[in-house]
Amino acid sequence: MSGTDGREPVPPNDMNACLESKALALAMLAASVSLGASLLVAMPIKRYAGEITPPAEISAAEPEPQVVETPELIAKGRENFVMSCVECHGDDATGDEGPDLHNLAISNARIARTIRHGVKGEMPSFAKTYDDAQVATLLAYLRSLK
Ligand code: HEC
Repeated sequence: MSGTDGREPVPPNDMNACLESKALALAMLAASVSLGASLLVAMPIKRYAGEITPPAEISAAEPEPQVVETPELIAKGRENFVMSCVECHGDDATGDEGPDLHNLAISNARIARTIRHGVKGEMPSFAKTYDDAQVATLLAYLRSLK
């Protein structure tokens, strides 16, 4: 007689075939999952590689500050410089403990960032001392140093 559910017992050979096809299905599932996972991993890497051009990224994060070199701004910048910077960059900004700041070859954004964030172990951060407008006066002063 058959089992209580009315089905014939599965002969051993069919059972093996059934297990094999289950294993195959599992293997295919695993393969497609790992393919999917590697695609998912590969995609952001590809995107990142595409965005790795630093100038665009930096200018997007911190737009190049415009420097207006009016005599008033330069004078204000000089005042701020005397208060905060001469101890390291020298009274005439030709350098002391810190480097000469005449004819800086770096961008305004880079100068502003250096003032805001400082240089680890070299120069303190002035983010709490100077707001954007005051950083702009320092930029005007530094750009006037030729
Ligand atoms: C405690 C000393 C110290 C003080 C104060 C200081 N600096 Fe500096 N600064 C340095 C040193 C040292 C460096 C060089 C860091 C390095 O090795 O890149 C530097 C670098 C810089 C640079 C980058 C120069 C370049 O050619 O890359 C700028 C711009 C600058 N300082 C501006 C300022 C301004 C503006 C102030 C005042 C608000 C100031 N610093 C205050 C020590 C100081």
